[in-house]
Amino acid sequence: MNAGIIGIGKYVPEKIVTNEDLEKILDTSDEWIRTRTGIEARRIAADNEDTSDLAYKAAVAAIDNAGISAEQIGLILVATVTPDQAFPTVACQIQEALGAKNAAAMDISAACAGFMYGLITAKQFVEGGSYDYILVVGVEKLSKIVDWEDRNTAVLFGDGASAAIVSKVSEGRGILSFELGADGTGGKYLCLDERNAIAMNGREVFKFAVRQMGESAMNVVEKAGYNKEDVDYLIPHQANIRIMEAARERLGLPEEKMSKTIHKYGNTSAASIGISLVDDLEDGKIKEDDLIVLVGFGGGLTWGAVALRWGK
Ligand code: UT7
Repeated sequence: MNAGIIGIGKYVPEKIVTNEDLEKILDTSDEWIRTRTGIEARRIAADNEDTSDLAYKAAVAAIDNAGISAEQIGLILVATVTPDQAFPTVACQIQEALGAKNAAAMDISAACAGFMYGLITAKQFVEGGSYDYILVVGVEKLSKIVDWEDRNTAVLFGDGASAAIVSKVSEGRGILSFELGADGTGGKYLCLDERNAIAMNGREVFKFAVRQMGESAMNVVEKAGYNKEDVDYLIPHQANIRIMEAARERLGLPEEKMSKTIHKYGNTSAASIGISLVDDLEDGKIKEDDLIVLVGFGGGLTWGAVALRWGK
């Protein structure tokens, strides 16, 4: 028996900030941002909209999509590096808001790989028989930790949330294999600095990401007993189109078989893979029984990937 995703939802804030908007406040250009990153716009949360508000809306959508009630959830895992506060956790805040009174709740901190860490943790608890339904949320309000005067980072990030309900699925479907990893020696390349703002060595993170995304994607395909030719669809963490393309080329997939939502939302960190999954399902890019690879990397450094047979 495998655990799989039986419901999914997302929420992105209403406010759209385009590259042209950023040209007005930073020494940058739409051309630079598009060609170096693939980003055209990002969503930015309102002042009175915090991480838990975004998480709650995505969670409601996922619960509804799964056709379960909040009381059936046994565990809530929220992946975020931008919680409203250190504690209570976002997981506890949304447990209350959802009325998920039977759920244990905790936040997971693994930066942009957080959704993968959440999904893979949920898989263990479902397959071990501890919980029937687990809510996994990936959510960030990165706009509150971005230094809006630093063009190296300010153009990259956006706010958003995605959520999945993980439960038992039928034979042959669900999460077939996974890989998780971390390399604390690279922590210095992407971190919160003394001002509580994102500080990044873009080139070092880029090099790591290109190598790791391709390797992890290949590893989960092989661990699941498949060849790269068997993969139907790839959802890489939406950090930079050039990093994503490197992972796609490693799997030898054509362009249309890779998720691309970065142009609309920028890098939403822990939320990005789930947001892509929702949009791609809506657009009919993923079909029942497709073999999908999800792969992410982030600050820490951290990474994670799964091979997933789509369907309940
Ligand atoms: O979820 C994980 C989060 N982090 C990442 O995924 C980041 C991974 N790294 C990257 O995506 C890329 O390294 C960046 C997009 C951050 C930068 O792209 P790059 O091709 O590595 O550019 P670079 O850092 O080598 O900079 C090239 C030039 C520099 O100017 P000089 O020194 O050549 O004169 C930068 O100062 O581009 C300049 N630059 C900009 N110019 C216009 C840097 N940021 C900007 C900007 N607008 N926003």
